[in-house]
Amino acid sequence: MTPPPLLVTCGLPYTNGPCHLGHLRTYVPADAYVRYMRRKGEEVVFVCGSDNHGTPIVVSAEDAGISPRALSERFHKHFDEAFKRMDVQFDHFGMTDDPANHHRTGSIISALIENGYIYKQIVNQAYCTRCKRFLPDRYVEGICPHCGTPARGDECDQGCGKHLEPGEIKEPVCKVCGTKAEFRNQEHYFFKLSEFKDFLLPFLDNLKGTSNAKNYAIGWIKDELHDWCITRTLEWGVKFPGRDDLVVYVWVDAPIGYIAFTEEWAKKSGKDWKRYWCDGTKVTHFIGGDIIYHHCIFWPALLKGAGYGSPYAIVASGMVKVDDHKFSKSRGYVVWTNDDYLDKGLPADYLRYYLLSYTSHTKELNFSWKVFGERINNEVVNIFGNFVYRTLYFAQKEFGGIPPGDPDPVIATEIEKCLLSVDRFMQEYEFKGAVDAIMSLAAFGNSYIQTNAPWKLIKTDRAAATNVIRNCIQIVKALTQLIEPVMPDSAQRCWKMLGYCDEAKHHPISDATLPVHEVCTSAPVPLFVKMEDAQLAELDALLQKRVAEANKKMEKRPTLSIDDFAKVEMKTGKVLAAEAIPKSGKLLKLQVDIGGETRQIVSGIAQFYKPEELVGKDVIVLTNLAPAKIFGVESNGMILAAGDAASLLTPLRGVEPGTRIR
Ligand code: 2FM
Ligand code: ZN
Repeated sequence: MTPPPLLVTCGLPYTNGPCHLGHLRTYVPADAYVRYMRRKGEEVVFVCGSDNHGTPIVVSAEDAGISPRALSERFHKHFDEAFKRMDVQFDHFGMTDDPANHHRTGSIISALIENGYIYKQIVNQAYCTRCKRFLPDRYVEGICPHCGTPARGDECDQGCGKHLEPGEIKEPVCKVCGTKAEFRNQEHYFFKLSEFKDFLLPFLDNLKGTSNAKNYAIGWIKDELHDWCITRTLEWGVKFPGRDDLVVYVWVDAPIGYIAFTEEWAKKSGKDWKRYWCDGTKVTHFIGGDIIYHHCIFWPALLKGAGYGSPYAIVASGMVKVDDHKFSKSRGYVVWTNDDYLDKGLPADYLRYYLLSYTSHTKELNFSWKVFGERINNEVVNIFGNFVYRTLYFAQKEFGGIPPGDPDPVIATEIEKCLLSVDRFMQEYEFKGAVDAIMSLAAFGNSYIQTNAPWKLIKTDRAAATNVIRNCIQIVKALTQLIEPVMPDSAQRCWKMLGYCDEAKHHPISDATLPVHEVCTSAPVPLFVKMEDAQLAELDALLQKRVAEANKKMEKRPTLSIDDFAKVEMKTGKVLAAEAIPKSGKLLKLQVDIGGETRQIVSGIAQFYKPEELVGKDVIVLTNLAPAKIFGVESNGMILAAGDAASLLTPLRGVEPGTRIR
């Protein structure tokens, strides 16, 4: 019986921000794995796509003032290009908002309904009376009911990490306008995850991949499984069948994207997608360690309920730190793929090597430019590059090519040992082990050429020197073949220098042991360029600058003495009139009664309030602020507001305008 074909996927990036190191930690190993398995002769399809739905996209699109589709298309293109530049080569990179996914999601939901795994229930959900809408997922913030930490609507992202169901969050506040939300009833649809425990236990027992994925999931499944609410009150998304007012939860249509992208790929390649998803499947998901629950529990249950095959392996990568700090875009601890790396002219292969060899795939990777530079210079340049260049340079200079022949048995054994070792590590998703084994072979080559010193030997025994260099050439060939999944561009350049005209990646990995017939006739060039200290310092300075700027934004103000505070004069005021300042976009001109005196105040709140809704409102005014002209209009004071959405401060109980704040 022919083994089922391998389908490899990567967790889909949300289209609301650019590609960064955290993404690459999953995509580069997946690409290396796919390349390796192909070189072993396996039939592999590698699909991915962008994740376009859900509140992360809607909120970001609102901020950017464009439609969610336009935002998604912008970042979809960005990811597609960034992956190509990193030599992460998908067979297909789709969009979850494309028709194939709408269709497949509708079909899977219908199958789940038919099979009795979906039911309706009234949910008491957060509702914003100001925005006049229900607040799904990231539209609401509050307190985690499990651990008491501030959390967002669908996940306790800063505390216990638990998934939160609609209506679960405590003290909900609207993310858009800052209004305290109330709970209102609404009808939603639920997936009976609780019925899948008996399926999931043996499924997880047999699941391949990394142990972190399997073990976490087995731990969770021992607790009770809760049904999942799978609909949301949003315009943007895949409509729930028969309900124009509801879309499916993004965590339903996103993984279904894996199937839709396979369908899109199959259509253009003349293949049958069912072979990958419906019969004895061999689907391997590469994901970040933060989405294990979704892939090991929710997704397999969804597939099973709708009559599809189950995932074969789940490979979860460890977390990424930057300079020993938790990866954080807002705090500046981030490395952007384009801005900080590729656009600086750095080779994709260096970062690929670093990501694959830094540590075990499931462990934490702590990025720093210092260690990056050390690893590239000490290992890639000094060990691998040096051996290749010495060998090819000497061969070309002394022989203009090497007479073909078999390598000595001791060399063949060393290469065989390396091949076996790399294979064992790759099958176990232990990419660091595989890279280390390859580098050991390069180190062996270096010490072999050093010990045998063909440049001396040639003066006394040309035949012996020829033999040494032939052995070295064989090691170079093996290294080129083995390193291709890790550093494809460098491998190809090396392959050409060996005299081959075709592509290294089209050769089976076992070719590593076949004698070399073609040998360079042109002068070889060094394969790698050293990272200079000055360049590393510049890259590091950029990172430190970003962190400093982020710190400044969050900086705590100095403590004030009571005398300092006494200098501040704040009074209650009543807005008498308000009008937009033409062409300013963000400014309103207010007339505010501050008790026997009317002040004209310019305030940057036009995005959040209509002028007429402010008239008659009680506000708090900083009254002894030096007068200023804003957009050419005199402003005499400041009204106080909280947060990015400028929620205006107001006295809790009615007081006369002009009452001093103390
Ligand atoms: O967590 C995330 O970034 C999601 N966009 C991953 C989705 S993976 C899948 F299931 F589609
Ligand atoms: Zn609101």
